[in-house]
Amino acid sequence: MSTEFDLFINGEWVSTEDKLKVKDKYSQQVYATVSKAGEGEVDKAISGAEEAFHSKQLSPYERYEILKKVSEQLLEDKEDFAQVLVAEAGKPLKQARTEVERAAQTFEVSAEEAKRISGHGVPVDAVPGSENRMAYTVRVPVGVVGAITPFNFPINLVAHKIGPALAAGNAAVLKPASATPVSALKLAELFQKAGLPAGLLNVVVGSGSVVGKQMQEDARISTYTFTGSAEVGLKIKQNTGLNKLILELGNNSPVIIHKDADIDKAASVLATASFAFAGQTCITPQRLYVHRDVRKDFQEKLVEQIKDIKVGNPSDEQTVVGPMIDKEEAKRAQDWVEEAKESAATVVTGGSRSGAVYEPTLLTDVEKDMKVVKDEVFAPVVSILEYENLDACIDELNESPYGLQGGIFTKDLDTAFHAARRVQVGGLMINDSSQYRVDLMPYGGVKDSGWGKEGPKYSIEEMTEERLVVLNLDG
Ligand code: SIN
Repeated sequence: MSTEFDLFINGEWVSTEDKLKVKDKYSQQVYATVSKAGEGEVDKAISGAEEAFHSKQLSPYERYEILKKVSEQLLEDKEDFAQVLVAEAGKPLKQARTEVERAAQTFEVSAEEAKRISGHGVPVDAVPGSENRMAYTVRVPVGVVGAITPFNFPINLVAHKIGPALAAGNAAVLKPASATPVSALKLAELFQKAGLPAGLLNVVVGSGSVVGKQMQEDARISTYTFTGSAEVGLKIKQNTGLNKLILELGNNSPVIIHKDADIDKAASVLATASFAFAGQTCITPQRLYVHRDVRKDFQEKLVEQIKDIKVGNPSDEQTVVGPMIDKEEAKRAQDWVEEAKESAATVVTGGSRSGAVYEPTLLTDVEKDMKVVKDEVFAPVVSILEYENLDACIDELNESPYGLQGGIFTKDLDTAFHAARRVQVGGLMINDSSQYRVDLMPYGGVKDSGWGKEGPKYSIEEMTEERLVVLNLDG
């Protein structure tokens, strides 16, 4: 595989002097060099997108065909893309393969949704004086979509942004995470081969404070879609004024293990979900609220499962926890755990770090104002919090400023639906971990976890405008 990559601007591969060195996150060796965009390249990408949006509109069927081709090609190239994710993100091989399959699904669903974009009839003739009028709405594309994506799902979160943007008939300018730009650039090659007209997709690489900022200040972009931290999300909101914005932000996912739960199932599901990809997903279980009656049993079973988790080289098929995105992040997680330990917390298992690899770590005796509980830990660190009364537990977990997804394990339907009504999240998983996501479902949070929903059907609503057409039959 070539290890040099250029920017994709207005249908051309553009090389610049300024290069970004992308490291293999496990070996820490330079894995690829990528051209960095300057002001001129970002400007050309946006003007290319704007011009293509106006002059190269595709029919819904043409959009369907291109997105379907990309989906199929991704599956053919699955192993190649998975190896890129192993290197640039440090994602364990099995999880990397799953991510590529998911991205293919996201493009397939986007392709299908391209054929289902429709408005509705409006009965204006029901109003006195409007008897001779009829009306309907159509959904029209917003124009140029600016997409800013994170390192944790370098291909599938790109798919969630450019799939719906193109399906809806928009042009897109994508800034992938600087830590993981290679898969996004290889994806642009697939779009080029699939026949996407020049300018409808542009990929510019660089930092958020330079490339991202320039994108946010350019009035030719009408809609922004971002996944990342609440802190950066807030800055983007401030920078983009009255533009449309979809924000998928952080979380400190709660999962309740009630006294009537299937404890074996809960321990097994949560051991995998809490530590996969070193806990670096926005819906990784972080706060496990366990009923006092089952706490000891659950904890023992969870620890047994954690001991079996293979940690280390992401190229190994058996590895579940590979490196974190960099050593600084692993060090930060370690500092948070140490800080909790110095207060009152007990490290039941884990707690050690080797470079960027942080061991799966389970804490107990935590308090609600510790960083490992109240902030988004985004690392393989999970805490048990004991409770006695379910409503008091829900009140406490709702104190979090976040609300993306959560979970509850219980055999009782009343308890499950009671929690579904009361827990403040965008999605609640019953007898499953907060981490459950398939790509066609609505995905998005409440409170500081963001605005707007992902999932191609839902993003297409955000990336189109409803236009009303009224016909006056009098004339
Ligand atoms: C995220 O971290 O927000 C994405 C999680 C996923 O797609 O599974």
